[in-house]
Amino acid sequence: MQLIEGKKISNEIKIEIAEEVKQFVASGGKQPHLAAILIGNDGASETYVGHKVKACSQVGFKSTLVRFKDDVSEKEVIDKIQEINNNDDIDGLIVQLPIPKHISEEKVIKIISPKKDVDGFHPENVGRMVAGLPTFISATPFGILELLKRYNIETQGKHCVVIGRSNIVGKPISILMSRKAYPGDSTVTVCHSRTKNIEEITKQADIIVVALGYAEYLKANMIKEGAVVIDVGITRVKSDKTKSGWKLLGDVKFDEVSKKSSFITPVPGGVGPMTIVSLLKNTLLSAKGSIYK
Ligand code: GUN
Repeated sequence: MQLIEGKKISNEIKIEIAEEVKQFVASGGKQPHLAAILIGNDGASETYVGHKVKACSQVGFKSTLVRFKDDVSEKEVIDKIQEINNNDDIDGLIVQLPIPKHISEEKVIKIISPKKDVDGFHPENVGRMVAGLPTFISATPFGILELLKRYNIETQGKHCVVIGRSNIVGKPISILMSRKAYPGDSTVTVCHSRTKNIEEITKQADIIVVALGYAEYLKANMIKEGAVVIDVGITRVKSDKTKSGWKLLGDVKFDEVSKKSSFITPVPGGVGPMTIVSLLKNTLLSAKGSIYK
């Protein structure tokens, strides 16, 4: 079994991005600039946005964090998004999700300019991804593709089983793994909560992507010997063994599945750290005008 070390790879990619930024700026390009909107004070969102802002400074990007209280009106948020859409200095804009219920997530996602939608959530960018056109691929699927690439994992003609059909992971990764490209060219099966006899399908998988949000769901008896296992789950559970009183569990029962798999991502330190570098990569692509020419 080989561990897929997302944390290590993400650090290497940050160094590559920092070098690319240096060269781009030295040749007259603009310094990439990411803006993030954070509404309310949800602990997990604060942490994620904090990591994103810190990562920007590590690679030489500018960042702007706009904070709103959780009782902000939908109009105020939309006005701010439009202001950022029209600000030529800003290359990428994300609104950290989830947002309070009185603000429509759909409206917010649609009002972000597709040219600055470095999360890749706008329907135009999702459509471009499905059509195989240049686009911002959202962070988690982008991170998974990058890990498969960096570990030279063969995907052509392989059976890839995706468990979960969310808009941000299951749906896009299933489309990307079946496209005519590397990583891709796989035969893809999507399983979800209504799938019958799921083990019969997962046991056929050469590559399995688990994105359910159900701690330790995938057991060793559900996979075949030598499968590649990508674990997207992160569930926080109480623990008396850690200082914080919490620990993170993936969707895979790591101790037993790792003995049977050829490659496996750990939680934490697997897919998670890759999501931030994906966002940085998209912001750099935006600053370079590589997607929308
Ligand atoms: N909340 C959880 N993941 C994400 C993400 O990738 N982007 C945004 N904007 N919010 C999130």
